[in-house]
Amino acid sequence: MNIDFDALRREGLAQIEAASDAQSIEQLRIDWLGKKGRITELFKQMGTMTPNARRAFGEEINAVKDALAEALETRAAAFNEAELARRLASESIDVTLPGRGEGVGGLHPVTRTIRRIESIFNSMGFETVEGPEIEDDWHNFQALNIPESHPARAMQDTFYLLNGARLLRTHTSPVQIRTMQARKPPIRIICPGRVYRVDFDRTHSPMFHQVEGLYVAENVSLADLKYDLQKFLSLFFERDAEAMFRPSYFPFVEPGADVHMKWGDRWLELLGCGVVHPNVLAAVGIDPERYSGYAFGMGAERLAMLRYGVDDLRLFFNNDLRFLEQFR
Ligand code: PHE
Repeated sequence: MNIDFDALRREGLAQIEAASDAQSIEQLRIDWLGKKGRITELFKQMGTMTPNARRAFGEEINAVKDALAEALETRAAAFNEAELARRLASESIDVTLPGRGEGVGGLHPVTRTIRRIESIFNSMGFETVEGPEIEDDWHNFQALNIPESHPARAMQDTFYLLNGARLLRTHTSPVQIRTMQARKPPIRIICPGRVYRVDFDRTHSPMFHQVEGLYVAENVSLADLKYDLQKFLSLFFERDAEAMFRPSYFPFVEPGADVHMKWGDRWLELLGCGVVHPNVLAAVGIDPERYSGYAFGMGAERLAMLRYGVDDLRLFFNNDLRFLEQFR
């Protein structure tokens, strides 16, 4: 049998050279060296040859086979390497890229303010106590010396529920009542929490936060109240706070006062306070002859506005991240 081994080798090598990817190299390996490949078929013909012819043929065909196998291997390796390089490039991480910035959350400025108020009073011996936001008339009004049809009820635009059987507390003062019902003096508490009033403008929100304070023991006086509040304001605003106590009316205290603080050249009203009215102590079964107390209530948003220089209360409730992020 006459076979042009050279032509065969050139044909195979040319095909291998022309292959464009690893897959076509594999196909060529099957076509040439596979079980039914062209070279394999030639080997099969050797069975009918004389020993001499077989040896010569075998040498030739083996040489072609080796040449093709080597070329296939070299090409396959080259393609694999290129593929690996391509994958490495596409999957690599560019460590020089700027980070995407995982947003770190932060506490709301009102929460921060309440916590600050709390921690100052805690350090002054006041315990934090909480109460329900849905109240009844007795805790929110009557026990606080605000009987039905008392004009002071008009001061607090109340959200009523269930035809008036329940209401959203209009201040944190009912927590005083609940605590005094449950404990014996001495009582020294602060009560932060949400309160609700039908009101909405630049300086009022239908929901806002108050922090109530109450101190009941023997011989508690207006002097204690002034001293403690003065101390609190200095700690809160981190300066010698010039506070002014101006007589004011709240049914549950007598005498009552509004505390104003010098802010620039203005006096700003900060909170209400006073000496607990004997009727309030009597309503919760504390003997007003033996015990006395003081109470105060402050708006957390108001203190937050002053501390952070915020001039519109509504910013606290819009949840605009551009605003909130400034307090992280
Ligand atoms: N509860 C009053 C209010 O909401 C504030 C206050 C509390 C005043 C305690 C005096 C004493 O307006």
